Amino acid sequence: MKIASIRTHLLEHRLETAFESASMRFDTRAHVLVEVICDDGTVGWGECLGPARANAAVVATYANWLIGQNPLEHEKIWATLYNALRDQGQRGLTITALSGIDIALWDIKGKHFGASISTLLGGRFRDSVRAYATGSFKRDGVDRIEDNAAEMAGHRDAGFHACKIKIGFDPAEDLHVIRTVREAIGPDMRLMIDANHGYTATEAIRVGNEAAEYEIDWFEEPVVPEQLAAYREVRARQPIAVAGGETWHTRWGMREPIETRAVDIIQPDLCGCGGISEAKRIADLASLHGVRVVPHVWGTAVQIAAALQFMAAMVPDPVRGKPLEPILEFDRTHNPFRQAVTTTPLEHQNGIVHIPDAPGLGIEIDRDALKEYRMKDA
Ligand code: NI
Ligand code: CA
Repeated sequence: MKIASIRTHLLEHRLETAFESASMRFDTRAHVLVEVICDDGTVGWGECLGPARANAAVVATYANWLIGQNPLEHEKIWATLYNALRDQGQRGLTITALSGIDIALWDIKGKHFGASISTLLGGRFRDSVRAYATGSFKRDGVDRIEDNAAEMAGHRDAGFHACKIKIGFDPAEDLHVIRTVREAIGPDMRLMIDANHGYTATEAIRVGNEAAEYEIDWFEEPVVPEQLAAYREVRARQPIAVAGGETWHTRWGMREPIETRAVDIIQPDLCGCGGISEAKRIADLASLHGVRVVPHVWGTAVQIAAALQFMAAMVPDPVRGKPLEPILEFDRTHNPFRQAVTTTPLEHQNGIVHIPDAPGLGIEIDRDALKEYRMKDA
């Protein structure tokens, strides 16, 4: 079995209502899928987090070292590709592109052996996960505070046990949002806050101390990801658990935040951190230091499927009668690619998402949808 070719599929959907986080504005949803095709006809799918065209260019560069390889030898391929662009790589697009390829190789391996990726990773500890609703971006043309409160109450009514809201815009207004959302959802729903690295350490410490009375489960990306000392300061000087890691890549990039306990919760993105292979190593590293792993998820059904497979195989840590289960980040903003790219949509029922157990990622790609949503000039 050999890899015959590799393709990328650039997808784009223009949003009817643009929205923004503290650090990014979204006028469109754009994603890139990776398709690895083998000489026996087996096809594997992956996805890369971040700029679609730029990722596609790096994936095309990796093809030089990929074509002709045995796709089942995923560690050998990972090391080969990493080393090929190491001198200018190590994090960023070289790793997000490698992540998409790695996920596709796991999909191929599963299809070849007739087993789900979670089974190949060592076993399914669970067949479903609770999802938490991510939303509450700042949408164009509406009052942010009322809009966020109404949205989160809707997620509660849809059965979600937890939700995460966007802050990092302005400390005073953000605290107003947190208070209003807590009033709207009531005392029982779990609530997390995500600053998308919009604060200085001083602002984050103030917001964390004032927000704590609203029962916040974690404070995500309080400061920019390069400032690990600021992360540690935020963690030490306010009471809410600190989360982060969606922009940190590979075991080398995760090492310092984990070892120095810059975070209580590490959030590797499978389509960014180096794929399923590297996420496994990162989770093992986190377990050495008592850091909880909650994968970051922001993409199409391929990324959700990869996260589900990984989460099925996450070892309960610590082991106890009723262990702390992993929870799935479930983006609730407008994005047709969560459903359209697969013929077997991954939906929640009362806030619970079933984990497929069909071979590989456990989903079928809808090629008509890839054509329908193809990016202009792609
Ligand atoms: Ni639309
Ligand atoms: Ca985030």
